[in-house]
Amino acid sequence: MTAIAEGTANLDSSLRENRVFEPSQEFRAKAHISSLEQYEQMYRRSIEKPEEFWAEAASELEWFAPWTRVLEPGRDGSGFGAKWFTGGKLNLSHNCVDRHATGSRRDKVALLWEGEPGDVRKLTYADLHAEVQRFANVLKGLGIHKGDRVAIYMGMCPELAIALLACARIGAVHSVIFGGFAAHAIVDRVNDSSCVALITQDTSYRRGSEIHLKKIADEALEQCPTIKNVVVYRRTGTPVQMKPGRDVWWDESMLAAEKECPAEWMDAEDPLYLLYTSGTTGKPKGLLHTTGGYAVQTYLTSKYVFDLHEEDVYWCTADIGWVTGHSYVVYGPLQNGATVMMYEGAPNWPECDRFWKIVDAHKVSIFYTAPTAIRAFTKWGVEHVRKHSLASLRLLGTVGEPINPEAWMWFHREIGKERCPIVDTYWQTETGAIMIAPIPGAVPTKPGSATRPFFGIVPEIVSKEGQPITDGKGGLLVFRTSWPSLARAVYGNPERYEQAYWVEVPGSYFTGDGARRDADGYYWLMGRVDDVLNVSGHRLGTMEVESALVAHAKVAEAAVVGRPDDLKGQAICAFVTLEEGHIASDELKQEIRQWVAKEIGALARPDDVRFTEALPKTRSGKIMRRLLRELASGGEIKGDTTTLEDFTVIAKLRENEE
Ligand code: WT7
Repeated sequence: MTAIAEGTANLDSSLRENRVFEPSQEFRAKAHISSLEQYEQMYRRSIEKPEEFWAEAASELEWFAPWTRVLEPGRDGSGFGAKWFTGGKLNLSHNCVDRHATGSRRDKVALLWEGEPGDVRKLTYADLHAEVQRFANVLKGLGIHKGDRVAIYMGMCPELAIALLACARIGAVHSVIFGGFAAHAIVDRVNDSSCVALITQDTSYRRGSEIHLKKIADEALEQCPTIKNVVVYRRTGTPVQMKPGRDVWWDESMLAAEKECPAEWMDAEDPLYLLYTSGTTGKPKGLLHTTGGYAVQTYLTSKYVFDLHEEDVYWCTADIGWVTGHSYVVYGPLQNGATVMMYEGAPNWPECDRFWKIVDAHKVSIFYTAPTAIRAFTKWGVEHVRKHSLASLRLLGTVGEPINPEAWMWFHREIGKERCPIVDTYWQTETGAIMIAPIPGAVPTKPGSATRPFFGIVPEIVSKEGQPITDGKGGLLVFRTSWPSLARAVYGNPERYEQAYWVEVPGSYFTGDGARRDADGYYWLMGRVDDVLNVSGHRLGTMEVESALVAHAKVAEAAVVGRPDDLKGQAICAFVTLEEGHIASDELKQEIRQWVAKEIGALARPDDVRFTEALPKTRSGKIMRRLLRELASGGEIKGDTTTLEDFTVIAKLRENEE
């Protein structure tokens, strides 16, 4: 484990940060929660009487049958093995769609979508209801049943949201694979959970060119024996190969499908979806989210953290391929009956002002994005922003990594025009929903801090031994008590679930993050303390990249570490030793970088590849990662880049320190 103090690059500046921003009177006037006292009183009640609190929240949704118990505590009262809303029956698709389509929001726009070429589609709740039901029948027609796993590999289009909601409607467990992942990543994920079907599209637009999703899927499916059917949505019309007996077109199947499909009664603890994420060891793990608790917490966090109101146009820029898209593009906002903006393409296509154009064109009022995107905007220059009014915005949010105070201030000034509160939301794929974030009309913000816990959440900062750490000092961030939207399992691997989250700090859920709490009870995230990288807000295991590297014929051994990067947060630095007979060269460097992109996806392409004679190891054979991290952060590689570096000498000098 990395020393906590190493943290992230922004730690220094956030330690000196002492600015405080109060929500404006104007924002407060119509906020759901409008004073610090109100937040504190609700928070106190939520942790003193969690069952009462969460039951009240759950009652705002529709249940087919009531729960018998709100919370069955897990081991030692922790979240490990805890169950929520036992006996309760509900359907999340029903709560996202039917509840609104059959009520007053029938003609309200649910999905407001813009394609990269500029085409716009608006689906009302009634439209969404019709589409989701029909597509649910398409899935049923393919013999897909409750509990079956369905992989989804698509770009950002309304049909992706429809696919999720249709699966949820019939109780099929969706497993979304980010459209930027390569064929290998599909193979691993599909096979790990024996998916029976895959939903994809011909191609998708990205930065003016096309991503050939169907073609990549076809390549992967050669190694996926459990897939019986593939449904292909026609997005661009680019011709693709269809395999007879296996592949069907989305549009043709829809025409043939029945209109009505009643929602399956799901048990609160029935699986809803799988989502794969990187860990410190092995291949990505399939986190399993269940229905009831996940529904309630995504619903309530959306309502309060984004202060959703009837007239809002809400835009979370995350891809549905990540958990942020699951919880805050689809399930959270739709349960609230919101109008959800969706955009297909790149933020800098055709120009660097595309996002701001969208904000003005569609009168976006809530804008939720990632610090890495904000840092890119700052680099592209304010002139792109200042061309647009952005007057419709009233609330901004960030997620995915710690935000450096400089980027926060830019966001506040240039996008929020010093008028919009910023909610820095801390959470994880595993937590399912937001854990630490300001309630915008109530909690004053400090640039770089995720501020205070959401209702019902009790963060603690502890030492490796589980002892409490005094305020102001860094430690491990854990959660001792249970919360509803926690992932219940790693698919097919109970030991890995226990090992990864419940062993490091006994009796608590261990996040893998370092953090400190200040005298006002504000939390400051300090980055991962394990071998997980955060590249542009995306999680990547060093092990995964290393496995891809050593799969290259010319690579003998590899060690991957992160180094601070102004734009991406962390950049990937790979130290590589070559097989006998191969010579280090710039061409080989490029070849290896491309290889990793091809194996995992472009987001895993190493920024630096450094050839070395040998990797520095301790006497017991452990790679000295701390040393490599220091070397990686040391800036430019000295001298001729093609020559081999020799770290063994430094390693020997250092060995006693490790
Ligand atoms: C890791 C989780 C949750 C959606 C996106 C990422 C980091 C996330 C913040 C934040 C500081 C953050 C943590 C966490 N992280 N949000 N607001 N401040 N760090 O989900 O891929 O599961 O990654 O992202 O390190 O452990 P994920």
